[in-house]
Amino acid sequence: MTSRDLRTAHESAPSKIALRGAAKRFVDAEGKTTQALSPVDLEVRDGEFVCLVGPSGCGKSTVLNLVAGLDQASEGEVLVRGEPVRGPGPDRTVMFQEAALFPWLTVAENVRFPLDVAGVARSEASGRVEQYLRMVHLWKFRDARPHELSGGMRQRAALARSLVVEPDILLMDEPFGALDAQTCEMLHAELETIWQRTKKTVLFVTHNVREAVRLADRVVVMGTRPGRIKRVLEVDLPRPRDQEQRDVGLLASVLRAELKVEIEKVLREEVDDGWRPTQGPVRPGPDRGMGGGI
Ligand SMILES: Nc1ncnc2c1ncn2[C@@H]1O[C@H](COP(=O)(O)OP(=O)(O)O)[C@@H](O)[C@H]1O
Ligand SMILES: [Mg+2]
Repeated sequence: MTSRDLRTAHESAPSKIALRGAAKRFVDAEGKTTQALSPVDLEVRDGEFVCLVGPSGCGKSTVLNLVAGLDQASEGEVLVRGEPVRGPGPDRTVMFQEAALFPWLTVAENVRFPLDVAGVARSEASGRVEQYLRMVHLWKFRDARPHELSGGMRQRAALARSLVVEPDILLMDEPFGALDAQTCEMLHAELETIWQRTKKTVLFVTHNVREAVRLADRVVVMGTRPGRIKRVLEVDLPRPRDQEQRDVGLLASVLRAELKVEIEKVLREEVDDGWRPTQGPVRPGPDRGMGGGI
């Protein structure tokens, strides 16, 4: 095969994840309809790290749940490796803000749990549990119970549990949203290393623009009322990046300015007396909460 053939083969390979006109409407018991997501198009390449950012309620989790197969699109298509998603599968694991570890199981037993469910043989399972606990630097804590761990350690255990089934795609919904800034930074570095080593495709939801710029190959900016994609931005900065570095901060300000309009829209709908947030320049800030620097 020539390099040209290789390139053609690569270009014609289906996207790892594709949403084509995918939309989601929820209908409640009284028949009231919420358009959580208006039709969106998004293609994620094999091995790509894509972050979704946007204000609360713009449909970030909805996109993730559609790809995870936890929800079904009301319109359009959601494809993984060119095949329609029909439900959850071991090729796509989801990690949430809460580690959701079983409190009565040890760290190792928690990580092993999905392998037991999948009927993986004992010796194979033990090997994999060790491999992934070592990868997230928790091997020493394998016999601890979740309540004995810090928040960051619990998320690392959850990450090991996501990785142990060796999925192709990691879906992460604000996984570090509840952690302090230093722990977050460490986990960003760990996640980046693991992503580079394992070549997973990652779809990562956050409302923190700096986190998105720190981690992503591409940032998808979403808007609200109704949930939609506003803009997609390539992050062409060398890795590893530092959340505090200047060019990360500059890109984050661009994104933050874009989102300011969206957040104000939400705020206006959430007050009953026409109150408006004070106008002012968009300041770069520590933005633990995305609204923080605004
Ligand atoms: N199961 C549901 N039933 C009704 N409405 C929902 C449901 N899940 C989400 N929504 C609505 O859909 C919109 C998008 O939600 P979500 O994807 O959770 O947003 P985000 O993750 O960006 O905060 C919100 O308005 C939310 O209230
Ligand atoms: Mg969400």
